[in-house]
Amino acid sequence: MSVIIEQFTMATNSHYELLLDADPSRKIVDSYLSKSHRIEARWGLQIIGVIILMPTRPETLEIVNIAVNNDFQNQGIGRLLIEYALEYAREHKFKTVEIGTGSTSLGSLYLYQKCGFRMTHIDRDYFSRHYDEEIIENKIVLRDMVRMSQDV
Ligand code: ACO
Ligand code: ACO
Repeated sequence: MSVIIEQFTMATNSHYELLLDADPSRKIVDSYLSKSHRIEARWGLQIIGVIILMPTRPETLEIVNIAVNNDFQNQGIGRLLIEYALEYAREHKFKTVEIGTGSTSLGSLYLYQKCGFRMTHIDRDYFSRHYDEEIIENKIVLRDMVRMSQDV
């Protein structure tokens, strides 16, 4: 059996479990889901990953959410989803792909740089402003968002 990556239409509970792992605010997830290209990774019938792509400005596509099921992490599926997104952007004539992540998300920062993203700027206090609950990751309170991009 191999991993299948393709678009989906309706977000089910399985999709939401993953989406909320990457972004704990249901309100924020719902605000971008309907405006975005929604892509899932499946292993048989199980949904094991999602990547959500939102057109933000002319020719710019943002990866607003990416998540892989815990049991399937560190097996290259996150990278496959990002490569799918970059190819999707090229095919649909986008010029730039952006991604934002918490300054405390050390694994994500590693993965995105390995996939060709470079840092552009810091959105200071983004998480303090937009999330009601304090988020702690890698023993650090999350406050700032690192903005990254790459031209495709
Ligand atoms: N710490 C260190 N390295 C990591 C981590 C980590 N937490 N996660 C991935 N890596 C490394 C892998 O070791 C691998 O390195 P290698 O190429 O040297 O072997 C490389 O990154 C690629 O890893 P994948 O296996 O392709 O990534 P994975 O399938 O595990 O997915 C993801 C990565 C999506 C970040 C996953 O850890 C996850 O779902 N995390 C929880 C949700 C989350 O934080 N999402 C990102 C939020 S930001 C946003 O959504 C825009
Ligand atoms: N990866 C992950 N975690 C690390 C790493 C690492 N490479 N290095 C330190 N940590 C963590 C430790 O696990 C510890 O975490 P904890 O508080 O959760 O237990 C915490 O950081 C503190 O670690 P220390 O043991 O106090 O740090 P250390 O004595 O190892 O010194 C230093 C860190 C100075 C960066 C050392 O690794 C070093 O000399 N590196 C080579 C020189 C270098 O790169 N210097 C920095 C260049 S930038 C500059 O000089 C301004």
